[in-house]
Amino acid sequence: GRALRVALLGCGTVGSEVARLLTEQADEFAARAGAPVELAGIAVRRPDKHPELPAHLLTADAAALVESDVDVVVELVGGIEPTLEWLLSALRRGKSVVTANKALLAEHTAELAEAADASGADLYFEASVAGAIPLLRPLRESLAGDRITRVMGIVNGTTNFILSAMDSTGAGYAETLDEASRLGYAEADPTADVDGYDAASKAAILASLAFHTRVTASDVHREGIAGVTASDIGAAKLLGRTVKLLAICERVTSEDGTESVSARVHPVMIPRSHQLAGVGGAFNAVYVEADAAGELMFYGQGAGGSPTASAVLGDLVAVARNRVVGGRGPRESAHAGLRVRPMGQT
Ligand code: NDP
Ligand code: HSE
Repeated sequence: GRALRVALLGCGTVGSEVARLLTEQADEFAARAGAPVELAGIAVRRPDKHPELPAHLLTADAAALVESDVDVVVELVGGIEPTLEWLLSALRRGKSVVTANKALLAEHTAELAEAADASGADLYFEASVAGAIPLLRPLRESLAGDRITRVMGIVNGTTNFILSAMDSTGAGYAETLDEASRLGYAEADPTADVDGYDAASKAAILASLAFHTRVTASDVHREGIAGVTASDIGAAKLLGRTVKLLAICERVTSEDGTESVSARVHPVMIPRSHQLAGVGGAFNAVYVEADAAGELMFYGQGAGGSPTASAVLGDLVAVARNRVVGGRGPRESAHAGLRVRPMGQT
């Protein structure tokens, strides 16, 4: 079939891996996707700083690239402005969107999904939560027939990397954070990681999908790891415990029988015998509990260029396949269902 023309917005830690894999594995990728996939343009902030990329593909004007003759927009820039405008512009023009931008999704999924529904475009964001781990598709598709009661786990690689290093080698907080940035795990502004904003965005996305409702980042009670000291970790050790930053999304029933959703992010002292205690480095692990399925665990690399690119490329294959077979996905499953508990209430 005709080539799927891809606009890549952002070519940093994640975008550069997407571009590399797309180029190196073009033939295999085309076979799996059912059509050739062609990189039609790459928008970056400073094109002159990217001698490694083909000059004729580079532009600083992401908005114009979105409006040009492309079929899919892959957004790997981050932040809410101006990415929201670019993605709405793409979706309104019937161009499908693949994004890893949890900060944006945690605030604006409703608007983006509405624009996608109106034009019939696809909106995929598997890479936005837990990097390489297939987690959103299972919640949305495999578990769509079950009733999920809880989603809980480690969803931020940077803070897990820091807490694991503090626990195992006694390394200092600041030096470990620098290393996480160097390795491409941390956000452009790492306070998003250490203060729990990134995990809160992911909790909002997870709770929305798991409970078929709309949860935004501001609904999520949030406490980061900036206050966790070496002596806290030492004290936890003496108690046979370790400190992990957890995101916990639950279906809760009040005394009068009404159901609602609660989502929170905070450090927890967990027993060293717990499986989550063994999750080191930038790995993530998420437990899902559902009525019929019981307990499930998802584990893998939660941050970094190539793990995240894996999830982005999976979404791109899905978009290409939909186009080939005339389908559309993923289906939007939010309905005016569960109320979200006021922040902080558990
Ligand atoms: P980087 O900071 O490494 O890359 C950002 C890219 O966006 C750069 O290429 C930058 O250009 C470009 N850019 C910034 N502003 C503009 C603009 N106004 N117009 C055009 N291009 C622009 O980020 P990451 O790759 O780490 O992250 C990208 C997204 O993926 C974010 O939403 C992040 O939250 C998400 N994510 C990241 C993960 C990770 O492990 N790093 C994992 C999961 C999700 P230039 O190169 O010229 O500076
Ligand atoms: N900064 C994020 C993290 C990237 O450390 O988990 C993955 O979403």
